[in-house]
Amino acid sequence: MSTLIPNRVCTRLEKTAREAAARAYAPYSKFRVGAAVWAGSGKIYGGGNVENASYGLCNCAERTAVFTALAAGERTLKAVVVYTPTAKPTAPCGACRQVLNEFGPSAAVLSICDTSARLETTLESLLPMAFGPERLVPGMRR
Ligand code: THU
Repeated sequence: MSTLIPNRVCTRLEKTAREAAARAYAPYSKFRVGAAVWAGSGKIYGGGNVENASYGLCNCAERTAVFTALAAGERTLKAVVVYTPTAKPTAPCGACRQVLNEFGPSAAVLSICDTSARLETTLESLLPMAFGPERLVPGMRR
């Protein structure tokens, strides 16, 4: 469970993230990651990492989940859960932190794995002094 995300939502986010990992496309790294975002409407969206033979084009699970939410019309994120098939929880990569900041600068971030170990934090902690939309469009946010 989480101290930042309501329990009933957190349970659903964790399940969605684990299920998304099972659908990841990761034939090169074999590292199947899943993510789930709790969007502004209250809906949950999942996504797994999608790799490419041109390795630099690989898309992390977090960004797949964010873009799925955005494609559905969401514009804000309240929380993200990341599942990695590891013994220790994994925080989102730097690129994903920046993308998450665009829509959820105050989002809760929970990382879960194959043990009971978990990492709970916020995007502000993971990406301090972030560069965001308000720098380019005054009054757009915050
Ligand atoms: N990956 C994610 O999906 N999320 C992370 O937070 C870290 C890394 C993916 C990218 C790539 O497909 C594979 O894991 C190995 O880096």
